[in-house]
Amino acid sequence: MQADLIVRDCRQILTFRAQNAAGEPAGMDDPGVVSGGAIAISDGKILAVGTEADILASYTASEHISAAGGIVLPGFVDCHSHPVFVHTREDEFAMRLQGKTYVDIALAGGGIRSTISSTREADEELLFELAARRIRKMISLGTTTLEAKSGYGLDTASELKQLRVIDRLAKELPIHIVPTFMGAHEFPAEYKDNHSAFIDILTDEMIPAVAEQGIAEFCDIFTEAHVYNLEESRIVLDCAKKHGMKLKMHADEIEPMGGAELAAEMGCVSADHLGTTSEQGIEALAKAGVVPVLLPATLFSLRSKTYARGKDMIQRGLPVAIATDYNPGSCNCDSLPLTISLACLQMGFTPAEALTAATRNAARAVCREAQVGSLEPGKSADFTIWDIPSHNFIPYHLGSSHITSVYCKGVCVHRAAE
Ligand code: NIG
Ligand code: FE
Repeated sequence: MQADLIVRDCRQILTFRAQNAAGEPAGMDDPGVVSGGAIAISDGKILAVGTEADILASYTASEHISAAGGIVLPGFVDCHSHPVFVHTREDEFAMRLQGKTYVDIALAGGGIRSTISSTREADEELLFELAARRIRKMISLGTTTLEAKSGYGLDTASELKQLRVIDRLAKELPIHIVPTFMGAHEFPAEYKDNHSAFIDILTDEMIPAVAEQGIAEFCDIFTEAHVYNLEESRIVLDCAKKHGMKLKMHADEIEPMGGAELAAEMGCVSADHLGTTSEQGIEALAKAGVVPVLLPATLFSLRSKTYARGKDMIQRGLPVAIATDYNPGSCNCDSLPLTISLACLQMGFTPAEALTAATRNAARAVCREAQVGSLEPGKSADFTIWDIPSHNFIPYHLGSSHITSVYCKGVCVHRAAE
């Protein structure tokens, strides 16, 4: 059979396929290894993955690329990020080192609110250029699918502007981008004492406008003691659902307030953070089939002593995902390799579990499990080639990556300098 491209000379391909050799659902600790493998690709999609001998016996292709004996993995799926903003907030990082907490800083007028005015003032071109530069860095670290949220405009025109920027990023950058509306990221300063008036704007103006323009697939909300309480969150999520949007929540990041239970009640696709989620919260997520998205780099950056109960969730069979949470405040981390290291070191994941969380399970968190997240026939040909002795090397070498090239839709989108 004819293919466009064959990838060969792979010492190992870690497919992260959904089923193991016995046809059962693969566990998170099973990377689905094919040794001495090759991949046949046509039209940007995977035709077959197998041993090199089998692939070369069945396929011919005009182009062959050599993985030079490297290890091949699916492109990473970063299923939670906030990349569209102007200025960075490294001063808050320094304040946290002096003992101030994220909430102290937010309540004193810093935090998300301090990112609003420059985002409102910025033109689309500037926001696009800054976000594109940040995302190119993520691509160089292996990300080929990225969920990107609005949420630094907090008025209808500025939220729509951010979403148009995300739409342009999706069209002009060579990776897959999933757009999320997050108008309920904070209460803007002008509504800080009148939450219900801002919630009316969200439900009567912003969500209908976003839904009508069809420029966000998900609606997300920051449910936390100092921002949206459970009742306020329910109103916003309910409205988004009625407008046909899929739901996500920032839940139980700092305080255990029943965010996970609300995510289950509302039928959210994912509940994210979950740093303080209780046993009942985990149970509720499991029953409702909500994907837990854990963000260990955020808790690390906030100097938390505790982390989400990721291993308990894995033991319960939940499809645990991890993501960077890249943003200008709580977590200025664009690296899934570093996030994978932190999942291992701070939550006790095995390297294979952390990699599954950043690929196959992360794809579920953005409803892209049929398209990306594993190297299986029919999926997008998104993969990274690594010059490493084994996949354990990825979390082991902290803060560095040994990616030699990144492919998305069968096309090389990054090559490391020799
Ligand atoms: O996921 N938690 C809410 N939002 C971001 C923080 C955004 C910011 O501080 O600018 C987060 O941690
Ligand atoms: Fe976030």
